[in-house]
Amino acid sequence: MDYSGNNTKSKILGNNKVTTRLRTFSQQSKITIQMSRLRSYESPLVKKYGVEKYDLAGNYVFPENVSELIPKNTPEYVDKGENYVERIMRAMHHFKQAALIGPSGTGKTHIVYLIAELSGLPLWEINCGLQTSSFDLFGRYIGLGRENWIDGQIVSWCRNGGILYLDEANMMKQDVATRLNPLLDTRGHIVLNEKDNEIIPRHPLGFVIISMNPFSVEFAGTKPLNAAFRRRLSVWVNFDYLSVGSKPSENEVDLIHEKGKVSKEIALQMVRVAAQLRANYKKGDLPYAPSVGDLMNWATLVADGLDVQRAAEETIVSIASDDMATQEVVRRIIRSSGNPTLVPESQDAESLV
Ligand SMILES: Nc1ncnc2c1ncn2[C@@H]1O[C@H](COP(=O)(O)OP(=O)(O)OP(=O)(O)O)[C@@H](O)[C@H]1O
Ligand SMILES: [Mg+2]
Repeated sequence: MDYSGNNTKSKILGNNKVTTRLRTFSQQSKITIQMSRLRSYESPLVKKYGVEKYDLAGNYVFPENVSELIPKNTPEYVDKGENYVERIMRAMHHFKQAALIGPSGTGKTHIVYLIAELSGLPLWEINCGLQTSSFDLFGRYIGLGRENWIDGQIVSWCRNGGILYLDEANMMKQDVATRLNPLLDTRGHIVLNEKDNEIIPRHPLGFVIISMNPFSVEFAGTKPLNAAFRRRLSVWVNFDYLSVGSKPSENEVDLIHEKGKVSKEIALQMVRVAAQLRANYKKGDLPYAPSVGDLMNWATLVADGLDVQRAAEETIVSIASDDMATQEVVRRIIRSSGNPTLVPESQDAESLV
């Protein structure tokens, strides 16, 4: 397979040798060079998620400036047996693209970083909710005249490969969506009409992940996804919080306990509060629900010696809203979900879950 994107044909071999057929000098000359750069980083989490068989990048070595975009040291992603990582890797392996849907804070962005790290793919992240201009996404000439063209993010991804991550894809402006449609057909391409209609084929290692919050009439600003876009994605993965309502998840309690460095009892109470707030958020009664990351911040302050209530004020109460009345609702839920310090020492977390 030719991954090089230019007129030099390169064949990537398993032993890190590249057989190169140079078309420019002689049709027949064939040289084998030892590659000086090896794939430098292999995530320690590949084995944990059992995704070795979905080797998306093979032995392909991305150019140095692009390989800087491969994430490193992404924290582990915890689920309750949904096997999200494996499901997304499988979709990428078979279809080159996947869509993630779930409420805010359910770890969609986190898992995309993890997938990029596990597969050794550069990540090109675009938040479609920010009104990023078409110039930034596709490219532009700089200076006077038409000599210096700079590729935008999407064009760079298309030429170099990696994962194009379109966050808040339902908020994408129509003009951008229209240009992306042909690209989402796996053998697609971009036409740069601003650059003499240059056609850029989608790189063989060009993957796409889109993510969005579920469309809901209660929430201002959420929009249904463009229908043409929806048709082009074969796999949809639904995300939810680890704990919602009256059922705290043991995995989330363990995560807060281990990474947040608070006792299991306090971790359980924090998760109970979060589960309640999330249920209210999903009903449309609150504008925000705490993520695992927010709970981790709450726990970090408690582990540093701050009182649980005070620490809540500085984290999950303030993050919920600026509005005093909403903050009061959050406080009430924190109180009614129990004061962590009152949970008897002897009562271990599992018996409460
Ligand atoms: N299942 C999980 N395991 C580990 N960490 C998680 C998990 N879910 C969420 N988090 C953490 O919670 C925080 C919020 O997650 P993230 O930003 O990925 O959510 P999101 O779904 O992208 O939200 P939004 O829709 O608002 O963009 C991050 O700090 C993330 O690491
Ligand atoms: Mg996100």
